[in-house]
Amino acid sequence: MGVDVLLGLQWGDEGKGKIVDYLSDKYDIVARFQGGPNAGHTIVIGDKKFVLHTIPSGIFRESSINIIGNGVVIDPITLEKELIKLRAENVSLDKLLVAKKAHLILPSHRYLDAASEAAKGKEKIGSTLKGIGPTYMDKTGRNGLRVGDIFKSNFMDKYTALKNKHVDLLKLYPPIDFDLEKEEELWMESLEALKKLQTIDCSYYINKKLEEGKSILAEGAQGSMLDIDFGTYPYVTSSNTMTAGVCIGLGIAPTKIKNVLGITKAYCTRVGAGPFPTELEGEVGEELRKVGQEFGATTGRPRRCGWIDIPQLKYTIMINGVTSLAITKLDVLNGFSDIMVAENYMMNGDATDELPYDLQGEEILPLYATKKGWESDLEGITDYAELPQVAKDYLEYLEKQLGVPIHYVSTGPARRSLILKA
Ligand code: GDP
Ligand code: IMO
Ligand code: MG
Repeated sequence: MGVDVLLGLQWGDEGKGKIVDYLSDKYDIVARFQGGPNAGHTIVIGDKKFVLHTIPSGIFRESSINIIGNGVVIDPITLEKELIKLRAENVSLDKLLVAKKAHLILPSHRYLDAASEAAKGKEKIGSTLKGIGPTYMDKTGRNGLRVGDIFKSNFMDKYTALKNKHVDLLKLYPPIDFDLEKEEELWMESLEALKKLQTIDCSYYINKKLEEGKSILAEGAQGSMLDIDFGTYPYVTSSNTMTAGVCIGLGIAPTKIKNVLGITKAYCTRVGAGPFPTELEGEVGEELRKVGQEFGATTGRPRRCGWIDIPQLKYTIMINGVTSLAITKLDVLNGFSDIMVAENYMMNGDATDELPYDLQGEEILPLYATKKGWESDLEGITDYAELPQVAKDYLEYLEKQLGVPIHYVSTGPARRSLILKA
């Protein structure tokens, strides 16, 4: 037994929540290892739809333990809202554990996020404004507050010192609307809900479970193209979203990682600013957005849509050591007679399948192959053999291009709309 990893290979929203929910009954533990409430993971069970931001997507399985790992940043207000919604649906929270070393998002982190984005003008990152960047800045700047601190007698002093530092920093930015006092009050109330959860030393806990032979699934948030080191910097999030982040975010050794399941849509989306070589700004992009219901699960913003991008996926498969793939939202392509795939990029007169240093600054022309669409409904198909031959051709073509086997194909938001290919 070891740690299996599931993560997004594009710019987020690949359908990670749905696949984690499906797979979680095969694992003893599901753990989030990075990111925070900038994530929005959607799970559809029967006629109920849940969007999780901080809590792992394995929470609906009574048998699995769910861990919010030390690499995650937690906003107690969002967390409490999630807890309330789940309790209202009788979802058991007994097996939810929180790492003591996870950092806290303060209201003033959100304030700073909003002020710094507002000051950027046209250079905006398109942040979800959940305070992610400022919280990770305080973590690496060695100023942060952690979950374990809330139980200490000097917590309020530490809180006030950090908040005051933020208030001083905020003077550097043009003023924005933010009711810090009101948000602080809410935050302090929500802290009580967080205090009631069971807290752990994540590294000892997980390593002991591994010794006992338990299986662990690490659930990625965001996508590899949003990774702070390897994504489309500076249009990225502030954590390591890739496989390497699992070791840091849970406290396990690289040798403990076994399989890496990479999730990609059958096309591509991005929400927020930054480069997106295969983006479609016209009618086809609009159609993908409409059929795929491409609106952010956290912010409700329309997602930018485009075709699947092979060089981009080959890159994220490489940096993550992906061992198998899940292709989601295949059904969104049901009505398309032609499906395009970017096989290479044309850059400075040469074809290449490598991403340049700065995807933003380069003139990139994607070179497309056109694939025939299946033009039929895939609803209800759970057996790979029953897929139209043209759809199988598309999937097998992707497998060949990417050099990694496809193990899962998702054909709808519901738990049951999943084909096991392998
Ligand atoms: P995540 O952040 O990677 O968990 O993905 P999101 O939940 O933000 O976005 C994925 C969206 O697509 C959600 O609304 C899901 O319910 C939906 N979804 C997931 N898989 C499929 C699929 O195969 N087909 C369709 N049509 N929708 C899907
Ligand atoms: P899930 O886990 C898609 C994007 C934001 C913005 C950039 C930085 O649901 O796939 P941040 O709030 O981190 O400062 O935003 O990253 N972003 C996401 N895009 N899915 C997500 O999470 C995202 N989390 C952050 O839109 O462009
Ligand atoms: Mg999402």
